[in-house]
Amino acid sequence: MDYTTLFITIKERIAFVTINRPDKLNALNAQCKNELKDVFISIKSNPEIDVVILTGAGEKAFVAGTDITELLSLDAESGKEFASGGQSIFDLIQHLGKPVIAAVNGYALGGGCELALACHIRIASENAKFGQPEVNLGVIPGYGGTQRLSRLVGVGKAAELILTGNPIDAQEALRIGLVNKVVPLAELIPTCEAMAKSILSKGQLAVRMSLKAINASLETSLNEGLQVEAGLFGEACSTGDAKEGIGAFMEKRKPNFQGK
Ligand code: COA
Repeated sequence: MDYTTLFITIKERIAFVTINRPDKLNALNAQCKNELKDVFISIKSNPEIDVVILTGAGEKAFVAGTDITELLSLDAESGKEFASGGQSIFDLIQHLGKPVIAAVNGYALGGGCELALACHIRIASENAKFGQPEVNLGVIPGYGGTQRLSRLVGVGKAAELILTGNPIDAQEALRIGLVNKVVPLAELIPTCEAMAKSILSKGQLAVRMSLKAINASLETSLNEGLQVEAGLFGEACSTGDAKEGIGAFMEKRKPNFQGK
């Protein structure tokens, strides 16, 4: 598929996906969502890619939301489909099976904040702004914001952001645990890349199993989640990577993981 609203480059097992509608602050229109879905489906099955860095084009916005011009014609039924469609793309990202780092380079509002929430790690530039301003439009978050934001920052802070619609800056996002780190804009991609490389230096089977177990923590009871963890721990123990990692520790050398 040729993309018109995003571009992808692959470098040393890292896919850089950039949403590219800077004149509309990278707002997600139907085409952009289709392309996002297509690119993440292809990344999922691409053995050359182990980590993804997702960002927005330009210096002003990560994603300023879903494209508001597409909302006016929606009714109860088409609105529900619209939300479910977006949710399925963001679910695909959460369950990609490979770490996705959001490089939040400006506005992350509405669907943009929800897109960042669907990623596993969020690093923000100092100029980033986060918010769920849907109530300003008389609607509510539809791409997972009411669920993922509550789980990440707690129900009280999520309620404040969603019910007031007021944005917060990067430092406040850091303070409430919405982002992992805040860096100057020029250091955003290098910082994400350094984190990606740190992940890449580890056993990739263990990385993927960890992600699976972390996802379970969002979707199951503690007891079920612990069972998922124990099962995956057992699977991890039986891999060549575990033999290599543990052996390397005992022999006081660096491990050479093969992803097997
Ligand atoms: N949907 C569609 N278009 C959007 C958009 C969105 N979510 N966010 C920004 N744009 C467009 C603007 O309409 C404008 O287009 P134009 O140049 O053709 O008029 C362009 O992007 C630039 O935005 P502008 O509003 O001029 O930039 P600004 O710096 O003055 O303000 C924001 C930036 C982010 C505060 C403002 O664009 C905004 O409030 N956007 C909507 C955010 C939102 O409510 N998102 C949730 C949607 S559910």
